[in-house]
Amino acid sequence: MFDTKNFAETYSQSKEHHPFRTDMERYSILSWLEPVEGKRVLDLACGAGNYSRMFCRLGAKEVTGVDSSVEMINSAMSHTPEIMPVAYHTLSAEDYASDIPYDLVFHAYLLNCASSPEKLYELCRVLYRNLGTGGQMLGIMGMLGHYPSGRRNPSGCYAAYQGGLSEGDGYTIFFPGQQKAVNHYWRRSTCHSALVEAGFSDICWYLPSDNRSHQMSADDWVELENNPVFIGVSATR
Ligand SMILES: C[S@@+](CC[C@H](N)C(=O)[O-])C[C@H]1O[C@@H](n2cnc3c(N)ncnc32)[C@H](O)[C@@H]1O
Repeated sequence: MFDTKNFAETYSQSKEHHPFRTDMERYSILSWLEPVEGKRVLDLACGAGNYSRMFCRLGAKEVTGVDSSVEMINSAMSHTPEIMPVAYHTLSAEDYASDIPYDLVFHAYLLNCASSPEKLYELCRVLYRNLGTGGQMLGIMGMLGHYPSGRRNPSGCYAAYQGGLSEGDGYTIFFPGQQKAVNHYWRRSTCHSALVEAGFSDICWYLPSDNRSHQMSADDWVELENNPVFIGVSATR
């Protein structure tokens, strides 16, 4: 679903230019992130590597990007200057294991891809087993399935589904340009329980904030603030 060159490129471009992505998504992540200078970072479901590159620019010593989509990883590699200390792997997060734990385990829109409670728990275990003691797990989880079906919003994405959604149900996300992908509906409380079961401590959930750039109207920012299309989560082990 994420595996076309066109999708990978369009998505990657939107990460750098769409005001929702830059002035709310990235802005919020930066506000929750502990300093990464000199640290080892794992970016699970790294997509086209936009956040992997951000961690390099912030001074990370070493970044590992893992994604199951060949086209996303191809795009990530083509946009990453050789000088950046990033290694990309085309692999399911579930299959990734490192001998050395990471200082930061990051994930953006990974947990929404879990298609069953068992998968959700498995992904939380992957986050946990790759994190070193004293490190930070930080992620964002999409909330589009909590929007009414078909309701457009200023992020440029919307969800489509039949009837009401229950835990684990799949729904289609339409991205700008009519690219689409399937995500799964999880309540925050379900994810919280899976993170606790995986072993995490100090689990904190966050609502996004933004810097209200003039690239979008005040009404659009209010809409995104009142109906967040993602939430953040951090934890330690
Ligand atoms: C919406 S994209 C987000 C990409 C990136 N995190 C970002 O924010 O720019 C979701 C990504 O998750 C990847 N993905 C989904 N399930 C995965 C899994 N089990 N293991 C690794 N990657 C996965 C998809 O291939 C896709 O690139």
